[in-house]
Amino acid sequence: MSEPKGRGGAWTEERLRRGKASSQGAPEASEHGEKALLAPGGTTPPYPPEASPWLLKTRGLAKVYRSDGVAVEAVRGVDIEVGIGEFVAIMGPSGSGKSTLLHVVGGLEPASRGQIWLRGQRVDQLSTAGWALLRRRHIGFVFQFFNLLSNMTVADNIELPALLAGATVRQARKRREELLAELGLTEKASAAPARLSGGEQQRVALARALANEPSLLLADEPTGNLDSTNTRDVLRLLRRTHDNGQAILLVTHDARVASLADRVISLFDGMVADDAPVVRLPRPVNGLRDVLELKG
Ligand SMILES: Nc1ncnc2c1ncn2[C@@H]1O[C@H](COP(=O)(O)OP(=O)(O)OP(=O)(O)O)[C@@H](O)[C@H]1O
Ligand SMILES: [Mg+2]
Repeated sequence: MSEPKGRGGAWTEERLRRGKASSQGAPEASEHGEKALLAPGGTTPPYPPEASPWLLKTRGLAKVYRSDGVAVEAVRGVDIEVGIGEFVAIMGPSGSGKSTLLHVVGGLEPASRGQIWLRGQRVDQLSTAGWALLRRRHIGFVFQFFNLLSNMTVADNIELPALLAGATVRQARKRREELLAELGLTEKASAAPARLSGGEQQRVALARALANEPSLLLADEPTGNLDSTNTRDVLRLLRRTHDNGQAILLVTHDARVASLADRVISLFDGMVADDAPVVRLPRPVNGLRDVLELKG
């Protein structure tokens, strides 16, 4: 497994260097408890020096759903890492556990077994309220089926996370306007989500997830319903998010989206089948697009 190589600028490099040096012999579990982990300033450097070089790490993560006496093991012993500022894509066939994995690492579903560390702290045993606070401050989530608040306008859906995290009305509004413009949604600001197309709702869901500039964006097929123009807008925003030093763990079936990532993890039957860096070949002079090559 390679070391994380976030592109978040000098502070990220410094953080990684110090993290590596200080992680030797450091205990795996939290020494600081829920309080330290939930401290504000998710993307504000520097992180505490004892933090792990990995933003997210799982070991032996498993999720078993039980319904009508039948157990479905959707995720079966997954070990993954996402570095600070790293962009990791998850690919795999339908039913391989991609959404389940994302929900579990985002604390939306409890793990059945295994451990999760975020910013060097054990989080798999956080309370529901602890997870909610953690997500508000550090994690943006784009659901596969959007989950927008239907009784609020598009603008309010985007603004709400920033307000909940303590931004002033002016700050929240400014961020909202930027995101609406970037995703071509300004004219839909006062609409109810139900009046939007699937692709428009998907872009609102991405804007909402990015409202707080989370240190980790978890996105479940954020281009699944988009045409090529809208996919381009979303890809541009994802690239900007990555360049800003924010880490992304993103599920996709689209090779164009995966080609933006630093690494692709392939899931099969609830397990990691492959985990390989994306190698970008130099752009040929005849203008052909980048070639995506996965190195084993
Ligand atoms: N709430 C649930 N209760 C019971 N089984 C579930 C539940 N959610 C998912 N599963 C099962 O877990 C397995 C993994 O589902 P998951 O939604 O994670 O797959 P996926 O890789 O995201 O698929 P897709 O590409 O179709 O979105 C599937 O067999 C699914 O039927
Ligand atoms: Mg899914």
